[in-house]
Amino acid sequence: MAAAATVTAPSRALLLMVSLALLTAAGATAALSTKYYNKRCPALQPAVRSAVARAVAADPGAGAALLRLFFHDCFVNGCDASVLLDGDGGEKGAGPNAGSLRGYEVVDAAKAAAEAACPGAASCADVLALAARDAVSLLGGPSWSVRLGRLDARAASRDAADASLPGPGSGLPSLVAAFRAKGLSARDMTALSGAHTVGRARCATFRARAGAGAAPGEAINATFAAQLRGACGADGAAVAPLDAVTPDAFDNGYFRALVERRGLLHSDQELFSGGSQDALVRRYARDGAAFAADFARAMVRMGNLAPAPGTPLEVRVNCRRPN
Ligand code: HEM
Ligand SMILES: *[C@@H]1O[C@H](CO)[C@@H](O)[C@H](O)[C@H]1NC(C)=O
Repeated sequence: MAAAATVTAPSRALLLMVSLALLTAAGATAALSTKYYNKRCPALQPAVRSAVARAVAADPGAGAALLRLFFHDCFVNGCDASVLLDGDGGEKGAGPNAGSLRGYEVVDAAKAAAEAACPGAASCADVLALAARDAVSLLGGPSWSVRLGRLDARAASRDAADASLPGPGSGLPSLVAAFRAKGLSARDMTALSGAHTVGRARCATFRARAGAGAAPGEAINATFAAQLRGACGADGAAVAPLDAVTPDAFDNGYFRALVERRGLLHSDQELFSGGSQDALVRRYARDGAAFAADFARAMVRMGNLAPAPGTPLEVRVNCRRPN
């Protein structure tokens, strides 16, 4: 018996050490949990939701803005609220963001409500993840349980934003590649593009597609193209709804528009131009519930994108600057 005990005791200790080491490694790659704030800050989710509800009631565009902010945060070094940092060289100045991303003051209001409920508890990255979910559901879209426990970066990278965010002139292969680079499938990409069921784009982003000089073979509904040319006039700052069917409702109108060749951006119409995503676009156009379910799942997957191991992180007090 004594011999057995001397053998088993060290092996148990060894097993324990091995499992602790694994937990540490897993912890470093951020295991998010829907229960993260259950004890730390039970008032967090209602606080964020009412701040977002106020903003969306005043302007539905605020909901679209929050949803896009979350995408532009997660695609650049993970969901770490880096997009919210002010300052030279930050992501706010990147090509896809400058003069285009909006809604920062709504995140500030949601974060202020979170700080009032539980000072220092909730990261800006988690507040943004919750705000994006609430925006979607307040505009009539699906809801989902948000996995939480993200931390905030202390620095932002304009170069990473320029490199990671797909542009409106992208073709299907480069859209698929941009999402694949983040571990997201072509199906996730198509579902997530359904975010363009709300919000607006500036003429500068679609003029080439709608204009008299559109590329030969550009798949665009001629009536729609003429409407867009009229709406834009000479002003590159004028805007048009991304979903021509139901501009402010989070529904499957975007996909119905694509089937009629009324996608606003070239990159939108690429999802329905005789390629690999046509069947899925038709399915979402027919079946709003299928779109809603896939969108919610894909948002959770996008929300899992984590900063690289070793990135310095903290819970920022002010979303616009490091502590
Ligand atoms: C698939 C590749 C994508 C491309 C090429 C793309 C490109 C764009 C462009 C060019 C605009 C208009 C910006 C402007 O004119 O100022 C826009 C707006 C928008 N995008 Fe995307 N986007 C993509 C994917 C996504 C995803 C995955 C989401 C969210 C999950 C999203 C959410 C939005 C929203 C909500 C707006 C409207 C913003 C507002 O009204 O302020 N986009 N996008
Ligand atoms: C063009 O758009 C109109 C609605 O504006 C639609 O009725 C028509 O079917 C579309 N044409 C094509 C070829 O999809």
